[in-house]
Amino acid sequence: MVAATMADTAKLTLDGKEIELPIIVGTENEKAIDISSLRAKTGYITIDEGFKNTGSCTSSITFLNGEEGVLRYRGYAIEDLAEKAEFLEVAYLIIYGTLPTEEVYTKFKTDIRRHSIIHEDMKHFFNGFPSSGHPMSILSSMVCALSTYYPDSMDADPDDEMQITRLLSKIRTIVAFGYKKSIGHPVIYPRNDLSYCANFLHMMFAVPAEPYEPDPKVVKAINTLLILHADHEQNCSTATVRLVGSSGANLYAAVSAGILALWGPLHGGANQAVIEMLEEIQASGGDYKGFMEKVKDKSSGVRLMGFGHRVYKSYDPRAKVLKDMADDLLPYLKVNDPLLDIATQLEKIALEDPYFVERNLYPNVDFYSGIVYRALGLPIDMFTVMFALGRLPGWIGQWREMMKDPGKKIGRPRQVYTGENAREFVPLNKR
Ligand code: CMC
Repeated sequence: MVAATMADTAKLTLDGKEIELPIIVGTENEKAIDISSLRAKTGYITIDEGFKNTGSCTSSITFLNGEEGVLRYRGYAIEDLAEKAEFLEVAYLIIYGTLPTEEVYTKFKTDIRRHSIIHEDMKHFFNGFPSSGHPMSILSSMVCALSTYYPDSMDADPDDEMQITRLLSKIRTIVAFGYKKSIGHPVIYPRNDLSYCANFLHMMFAVPAEPYEPDPKVVKAINTLLILHADHEQNCSTATVRLVGSSGANLYAAVSAGILALWGPLHGGANQAVIEMLEEIQASGGDYKGFMEKVKDKSSGVRLMGFGHRVYKSYDPRAKVLKDMADDLLPYLKVNDPLLDIATQLEKIALEDPYFVERNLYPNVDFYSGIVYRALGLPIDMFTVMFALGRLPGWIGQWREMMKDPGKKIGRPRQVYTGENAREFVPLNKR
């Protein structure tokens, strides 16, 4: 890991007293004031609800410049990786820090292939969930349950590569088995002669006694989708993984918590919410104007889903790749989805509307991903699961980086208390 450098200090005057706080500078010249000694020196803490301006760690995994729409994993541009790399190559890069050599990559892929099945007993769990159960809930439960089958994971050892391999491989099987159960089909076992993404498609879409060969163009699309989601620095779910992991909880527990954080509609759940929103506009006969009025009226509580981002204040580079993918893939699959036209219209209107322009609100990764998933035949409640599948290397890489940090600390924010002052307890019969 490249260490942030210390440079200069910031001077702060509080209650007439001047104190100095160290400034740290990252490799892309990102600057931060280290306030960890502030309370000891002054009695003050800082407050920043939603962590809008608070760095929780230094990290050498992902660089994101939201003003210029730049996203890089370990220094490599997302556009390059999305076009030229394999998902597992990117997973290795994110988790272990470098692109694998051919020899290392072959071993990595072989290990992942070998661990694709889940313990037969785990199949019983799927029978216990209602068939209408949301797949994010099932995924989180099943990932956490993996820790019961691999008790050595309790050591939470970041150098235990076997736990990482198992999780990367088995998550696909869990997702696909869950899907098959939800539609009442028998589960389809992995075919280890197939690539990571092709094997996933096989388990999802093959049916017994019928030949199934995944379409290479669809395999490539899944590969690209997973790469685009693979990491995004300290977002809500990744921060959750780090926070849970910081207590020493094992990898499966930390990732399981990350899956749940991803589920919400303001985060990974937005891809499902986008389609629901587009369907609503379609049902209203294409009343864009009425919908936009609702979005701009804060009291309505309606947001333009798939738009806006905490960090990007320009076009999300992942959304660009996905829009091109949708334009290319839908005609190839002979899918004529009116929701793509609605999305394109909505984007055009929003990008010219002062409300969105003034607030720098642009399409994010979730605006077009749902349309692509729909065209691939995935049911709507599986969209966020696809996001989770892609984000897994990021969660693992960030957990591993944190666990290997000799200066790691349990995550424990402070607060400003606003409740009652000390008062006397009144017994029940005197209240
Ligand atoms: N529709 C309408 N107004 C919006 C939207 C939106 N999608 N996003 C932000 N705003 C407004 C917001 O009302 C606020 O206005 P004002 O300054 O007048 O109060 C301003 O823009 C700033 O918004 P914020 O809520 O303070 O920004 P945030 O950084 O806390 O929220 C966000 C980021 C992604 C939660 C938000 O933009 C949002 O809710 N977007 C829709 C949900 C969505 O698409 N989420 C997926 C994000 S990308 C995938 C991922 O990595 O999670």
